Amino acid sequence: MRAVVYKGPFKVAVEQVPDPKIQHPNDVIVHITSSCICGSDLHMYEGRTAAQPGIVFGHENMGIVEEVGPGVATLRKGDRVVMPFNVACGFCKNCERGFTGFCLTVNPGFAGGAYGYVAMGPYTGGQAEYLRVPFADFNALKLPKGTEHEEDFALLADIFPTGYHGTELAQVSPGESVAVFGAGPVGAMAAYSALIRGAAQVYVVDRVPERLQKMKEIGAIPIDFSKGDPVQQIRNMHGGDGVDKGIDAVGYQAVEPGKETEAPATVLDAIVQIVNPTGILGIPGLYVPTDPGGVDPHAKQGRLLIPFGKLFEKGLRLGTGQCNVKRYNRYLRDLIIAGRAKPSFIVSHNTPLNDAPTAYEKFDKRIEGYTKVILKP
Ligand SMILES: NC(=O)c1ccc[n+]([C@@H]2O[C@H](COP(=O)([O-])OP(=O)(O)OC[C@H]3O[C@@H](n4cnc5c(N)ncnc54)[C@H](O)[C@@H]3O)[C@@H](O)[C@H]2O)c1
Ligand SMILES: [Zn+2]
Ligand SMILES: [Zn+2]
Repeated sequence: MRAVVYKGPFKVAVEQVPDPKIQHPNDVIVHITSSCICGSDLHMYEGRTAAQPGIVFGHENMGIVEEVGPGVATLRKGDRVVMPFNVACGFCKNCERGFTGFCLTVNPGFAGGAYGYVAMGPYTGGQAEYLRVPFADFNALKLPKGTEHEEDFALLADIFPTGYHGTELAQVSPGESVAVFGAGPVGAMAAYSALIRGAAQVYVVDRVPERLQKMKEIGAIPIDFSKGDPVQQIRNMHGGDGVDKGIDAVGYQAVEPGKETEAPATVLDAIVQIVNPTGILGIPGLYVPTDPGGVDPHAKQGRLLIPFGKLFEKGLRLGTGQCNVKRYNRYLRDLIIAGRAKPSFIVSHNTPLNDAPTAYEKFDKRIEGYTKVILKP
């Protein structure tokens, strides 16, 4: 089959790789209809991780069940399904409590597994024609037959649940004010989720004009950090006050406002400042244990300079980590089916799988409006 293969920094190619096979009675093989490119794929694409050439990318996968292992109870050939980017068993101590992003079974020696991702286990990615789904009864979420909501459902694999996870970590409640940093797909979905949860004001900080414009269209308040300190801008617009909740949807590749340089602690610093005492910070943005290729000397050692004393003084709480997609995706699917959510407003491109090299290049440069790309095998 054809698949998107990582060749080295800033290079992917569409190549022939072996078709996946049923390896365990609870596996299914899915014929992929959509696999999105994610901001997280860019961490590998840019050569900032230990990912070795040869890895097949793709953790945001949707398709039609093609082949069913003999132990599968709930799925049949022809079922339309979307898979959480997490590979999880469903029965370990963490899965049992809903922490499927930290499954203890699927990736020995590490809590958590994913498709097509460095250090996340032996699971080949789905930017390909076919995908093997382990523990399929648990991992494949069934969708209504047909092709309705195709783009909305594709986002259930990662970023809609991940944005929602940001609001869950921050416990966003009706009437609250929220500051979301980052208007990429994850930040956009966090802002959208905060509005769905009834937040009164949702400020979204970024500097990419099209991304900020989208946020305005959904009813959030765009803040352009290239025009000045975002913390001060939010305060000015919020009657001089801070906000109830803060969400970091940027992660360690944050750009220092006013400069072009990377400053991995800048967003954490800003949300500690902008969130009012007793507030909560939700941090779905990715931070890595060490960043040897990074520019910040502390981050190279896996340390960040953040105002921890201020965080303590304010009595702030925070939540971090991979999204437990399985915990939310059924409910978010049903919001889509009910017509109460339409996350596909962030999809910018549907692209044939064969054009993945160009799509990666443009998405990486964040040019020509490349915001969220769905690859079609
Ligand atoms: N926790 C999870 O399970 C999970 C899942 C998916 C993605 N992620 C992570 O979430 C983060 C965002 O993902 P994405 O796909 O939206 O990425 P993205 O790179 O498309 O978006 C990040 C946005 O942040 C903006 N930005 C940069 N510096 C900023 C600053 N100082 N203040 C405000 N905005 C700033 C950029 O302009 C960009 O638009 C990444 O770190 C990604 O790895 C986490
Ligand atoms: Zn993703
Ligand atoms: Zn598990």
